[in-house]
Amino acid sequence: MPSAKTKPIDTSKPISRLPTHVAVIMDGNGRWAAQRGLPRLVGHRAGTENLRRVIRACVEFGVKYLTLYAFSTENWGRPKEEVQGLMHILEDVIDRELAELHSEGVQLRHIGHLDALHPMLRDKVIKAIEMTKNNDRLVLSLAFNYGGRDEIVCAIREIIDEGVPSNDVTPEVVSQHMFTAGTPDPDLIIRTSGEMRISNFLIWQGAYAEWYVTQTYWPDFGREQLYQALLEYSGRERRYGRVGKEFEDQQ
Ligand code: FPP
Repeated sequence: MPSAKTKPIDTSKPISRLPTHVAVIMDGNGRWAAQRGLPRLVGHRAGTENLRRVIRACVEFGVKYLTLYAFSTENWGRPKEEVQGLMHILEDVIDRELAELHSEGVQLRHIGHLDALHPMLRDKVIKAIEMTKNNDRLVLSLAFNYGGRDEIVCAIREIIDEGVPSNDVTPEVVSQHMFTAGTPDPDLIIRTSGEMRISNFLIWQGAYAEWYVTQTYWPDFGREQLYQALLEYSGRERRYGRVGKEFEDQQ
């Protein structure tokens, strides 16, 4: 079974080269629930409990940026009760976790569109962002009502509206118009539950990210599994399309 518990992992060895920014496609909540004969929303609740463990582990290991894919622009197509359930989960997370996250130095950011959310929920997200804006221990970006293609389209529209001459449109200019402006590109993208898809997540920013795909379903992906992903990342050679000596000289 894909999400079966594995033997304990030794997490005592320091990790030599940490990714600055880890992004996660938190997949497998539904299958985790189905495996137990439970409704899908119970899987999402279990996945929510897990957020706390993974956020704390990022702080502990020294990851500076964490981006979590919680609700995509395509997720509106799910059954109404599941969509509503995910909205309630977002509200609950803010109500129950914000004070503690704030005291631990976590800065909350949002990527995507807030305008489709209920005004009360939108206000809560905006207030949480405002409250934590000066924290710098971990920058936690929540991708909620987010889609990578939509983000690129929005950036193009903004660039055109600002009257930027076409010759001045560079990758840097495009990056500055993304929802993620001010956040470094992800170094490591983790996808749980074994699917080998990008699913419209950070498709611009992830151009040179390292991927780590695990069979573990999101509710079972904890501190030890994160450590394992970070350890594997630390052994990867990132060449950004260059080779051998040319790459080494530029390091
Ligand atoms: C994908 O699993 C997961 C989601 C679409 C939602 C992710 C949400 C959480 C982890 C809860 C935290 C949420 C917020 C709002 C903070 P899936 O449902 O596609 O699983 P499946 O592929 O096994 O069906």
